[in-house]
Amino acid sequence: MAEKHFIITGTSRGIGEQLAMMLLERGSHVHGISRGSSEVLCKYKNYSHLRFDLSNTMGAQHMLDGILESINMNDTEMLCLINNAAMLEPLKSIEKCIQEEINGNLQISLIAPMVLTSCFIQQTENLQLRRKIINISSGSGTYPAPDMSVYCTAKAGLNMFT
Ligand SMILES: NC(=O)c1ccc[n+]([C@@H]2O[C@H](COP(=O)([O-])OP(=O)(O)OC[C@H]3O[C@@H](n4cnc5c(N)ncnc54)[C@H](OP(=O)(O)O)[C@@H]3O)[C@@H](O)[C@H]2O)c1
Repeated sequence: MAEKHFIITGTSRGIGEQLAMMLLERGSHVHGISRGSSEVLCKYKNYSHLRFDLSNTMGAQHMLDGILESINMNDTEMLCLINNAAMLEPLKSIEKCIQEEINGNLQISLIAPMVLTSCFIQQTENLQLRRKIINISSGSGTYPAPDMSVYCTAKAGLNMFT
């Protein structure tokens, strides 16, 4: 039977972990990406995990290429990239944020999804299978909150990009 493969960022905990578990229970293959790993997901034989820091956006193409090369496309009916990982911090007013904090958040929450989307389309556009990209946003991309300007801006950017 043809397989479904989901590449999900941020599967070590939270929504990414739960989403991955739901898809694994349905028989799909999940390729998780995060710095830490999930004990519960590693028990599924259809789960593979890649430890990667998404703030390394220059290395993201190489990382995604490796995952795509590991998939047998002849047996695959659907490939899906889910950009889920994001960073909430820094949670303080903008004049208190240092450059590293602003950079770090935007690299993970906005630039990594854009780079992964670009690479995913480039590497899969000639394949004869169904492809999807899902970007996990937030109400914070629409409704500004005090002390959350970096997170809100990253999500507003992700909304526009999507
Ligand atoms: N929870 C909510 O109420 C809520 C509401 C609206 C939208 N969202 C959105 O839903 C998504 C998931 O939220 P969540 O609450 O599940 O978040 P979470 O519990 O904080 O989990 C974030 C995930 O992202 C990964 N991550 C963070 N920084 C990373 C990095 N530098 N490199 C690789 N992976 C990294 C984390 O893994 P490691 O730390 O192991 O790397 C973790 O697996 C986010 O996009 C968030 O904005 C959440």
